[in-house]
Amino acid sequence: MTYSDLSRPMRELIESHGRPEREVYLDHENSGLIIPEALEAMIGAYREGGRGHPSITHRIGWISYQSLYEATSAISAALNCDTNELVHTHGGTEANNLAIIGSAMMEPRSRRKILLSSIEHLSVIFPAEWLGRYGFKVIKIPVDREGFIDLDTLSREVDKDTLMVSVAAVNHEIGTIQDLKAVGDIVKDRDEGVLIHTDACDALGRIPIDVKRLGVDLASFSSHKVYGPKGVGALYVKEGVKLEPILQGQLSTQKLWPGVENIPGIMGFSKALEMMHKHLDEYTKRMAKLRDRLIDGIMERVSHAVLNGPRGERRSPDNVNISFLYCEGEALTVELSMMGIYVSSGSACTSRVLEPSHVLLSIGRRYEEAHGSLLMKISPYNSDMEIDYVLEALPGAVDRIRSLSPIKP
Ligand SMILES: Cc1ncc(COP(=O)(O)O)c(C=O)c1O
Repeated sequence: MTYSDLSRPMRELIESHGRPEREVYLDHENSGLIIPEALEAMIGAYREGGRGHPSITHRIGWISYQSLYEATSAISAALNCDTNELVHTHGGTEANNLAIIGSAMMEPRSRRKILLSSIEHLSVIFPAEWLGRYGFKVIKIPVDREGFIDLDTLSREVDKDTLMVSVAAVNHEIGTIQDLKAVGDIVKDRDEGVLIHTDACDALGRIPIDVKRLGVDLASFSSHKVYGPKGVGALYVKEGVKLEPILQGQLSTQKLWPGVENIPGIMGFSKALEMMHKHLDEYTKRMAKLRDRLIDGIMERVSHAVLNGPRGERRSPDNVNISFLYCEGEALTVELSMMGIYVSSGSACTSRVLEPSHVLLSIGRRYEEAHGSLLMKISPYNSDMEIDYVLEALPGAVDRIRSLSPIKP
């Protein structure tokens, strides 16, 4: 695909769609919201604090260095790590790639087995599978019907040849909060030398994150998941863990990432994280209340609806993922969009590609159930009134799409 292929039909689509009078944004999986204070921090950084190169020895360079240092210190403090244990990256995808490929390149011959849960984000699965082409063995550990990793299989698979175990703290599609402590205990008990990586992109801002308490060696983060700017992320690398950089070029202030740091983006991330951290308890309670109101409301009003993922405290407070049987998920997102309700179908990251979500298939959903799923992610900025509007609009939208389906109950 090239952009020119898409731009004309997209423009026509946007114009013909028009802007609905009422809008409810529930697609925070795919980003779309920036905390106002984070935006302000970025604008300030582009004007002064972060416009220079942090490694250059003149006044503007020094100011940039100081801004970068302050933002790095604030992010590290929020995660409970040292500034030297944090690598700034261009997003969660790059952090996951650096964690997996960077550690594989460090010990390319001694340990060649990579264990992943079967429901990892594609930015974890794909780099591991890519390494598979160069002699690494990738094993996907199954999960149960709610998405919890099978600890017995994990325990059986960890051996002297295992390089890494990667398990997301919170699943991005179905909101399963894994017991990382149990994962860590099993893995380290079998072999202290195995690295534990967690993709914590969807955990930050939803559950308390303290990298030391998580007991992991590597943890990936993405700024837009805490309502900061897109294209900004970080990798926690525990002191003593050795990685090879995966990008080659001129090093600035970091050992594992070459290039000029995106200081305005990093300052935006730092500010967004600070706000989420400050209000974590209040925000997560509010999100969980809205989540349950939405789940319960849909289950009461719509027939043949199945909740994907666990309920209650073991589910991320922002996550609602429901399969509507006899209903095509993509068509439903378009129907809802006409009513000003913005959600995604199945996995956000595959919704432009009409393939069923590997996460839903892994928890035992059938192909057609996976296809009829909607992923709605609540932010602390959503309101009760917005949820009520969705509950009012959704049953009719499902009925209309079902009436077009060749498969009937
Ligand atoms: C769990 C998870 N990991 C990684 C990523 C990729 O992060 P980014 O979009 O910052 O590259 C996402 C993004 O949606 C995600 O949900």
